[in-house]
Amino acid sequence: IDPGGRSLPSLRNDPAVGEAAAMLRAGKLVAFPTETVYGLGADASDDLAVRSIFRAKDRPSDNPLIVHVAEESVLYDWIRKMPETGRRLASAFWPGPLTLVLEHRGTLASSVTAGLSTVGVRVPSHPVARALLFQAGVPVAAPSANRSGKPSPTSAEHVWGDLAGRIHGLLDGGPSGVGVESTVVDVTGPTPLLLRPGGITLDRLQQVTPTVEVDPGLQGGAVVPRSPGVKYRHYAPRGEMWVVAGSGEAQVKRVQALADEGTAAGYKVGILTTEERRKRYRADWVLPCGRRSDPASVARNLYRVLRCFDELGAEWIVAEGFEGKGLYDSVMNRLSKAADGRLIDTNTNLSP
Ligand code: TXA
Ligand code: MG
Repeated sequence: IDPGGRSLPSLRNDPAVGEAAAMLRAGKLVAFPTETVYGLGADASDDLAVRSIFRAKDRPSDNPLIVHVAEESVLYDWIRKMPETGRRLASAFWPGPLTLVLEHRGTLASSVTAGLSTVGVRVPSHPVARALLFQAGVPVAAPSANRSGKPSPTSAEHVWGDLAGRIHGLLDGGPSGVGVESTVVDVTGPTPLLLRPGGITLDRLQQVTPTVEVDPGLQGGAVVPRSPGVKYRHYAPRGEMWVVAGSGEAQVKRVQALADEGTAAGYKVGILTTEERRKRYRADWVLPCGRRSDPASVARNLYRVLRCFDELGAEWIVAEGFEGKGLYDSVMNRLSKAADGRLIDTNTNLSP
């Protein structure tokens, strides 16, 4: 479906959307585009359907799913209460790439919440996702539509590559927009907590609710993250990967030196860089991921480029890291997870 320029009523009447909505109501699995990444959906009130999501993805069952709804009003049927901070964030960012963690009443399928007393919910803004949710008329539990551990899918082709034969339907709405997943904020406590950085930046959250804090578990170290999914190695290509943080020439030199180490050890080596610096490197593959001067372009291309390294057969991957805040915070979170924590900082650690 090409959503370009089409109105919501016209998308709702699209036969493909109707067929996908009927599949969801019948307990089947349907992948669909959202503005962040593609999701793998099932009726959130149907425990059997939700369990089949975990099977299709090989997802650990202790990792709860996000429930997607067409409109905020729908969720009042099954959440306990909407705190004031939640209300403010919802009215600022829904529909859009924000997930709120709220207390539920226990009426959703228990596999959705992995037994927790809270549930993650969001109202996506992608026109095809909205049309599907309106047509389905049921809350839709949907994790990213990748095999567990792989980079999230940002196109229908990625979903097909991971899940063909394991799902009933796939709505192709072209490439997703933001490219990294939604920002997850827990609003059940006295202070709103950012559990996963994503499409809505911390700055933008703080403009609406100045008290929002970052989950200390996100910084690594001994504190366990509050969001169960955040603890898994994720978004990972098959090759060994390093991220070189820092900036300027020191960073470029370090990236090249690490790539050369891989080459010397006999590996097929890939470098993840940006348009500005693609000509600076030598390796088997030098792949630009957007423009360094445009964080949104880097986020949008990140998972596609990580998947590319797999297709090419890269065995040793060195990625340039990014400094600063905003979307680069989310990009660095995903990159360091893809690298399983192998993060090298050229600012503080010049010659290890
Ligand atoms: O952008 C997105 O959020 C995409 C699209 C499809 O909507 N979905 C997505 O879902 O990324 P998934 O399952 O890949 O990631 C959900 C994250 C996990 O880190 C999970 O642990 C967390 O949200 N989460 C879900 N429910 C939670 C809860 N009740 N408490 C804390 N974290 C929760
Ligand atoms: Mg995921």
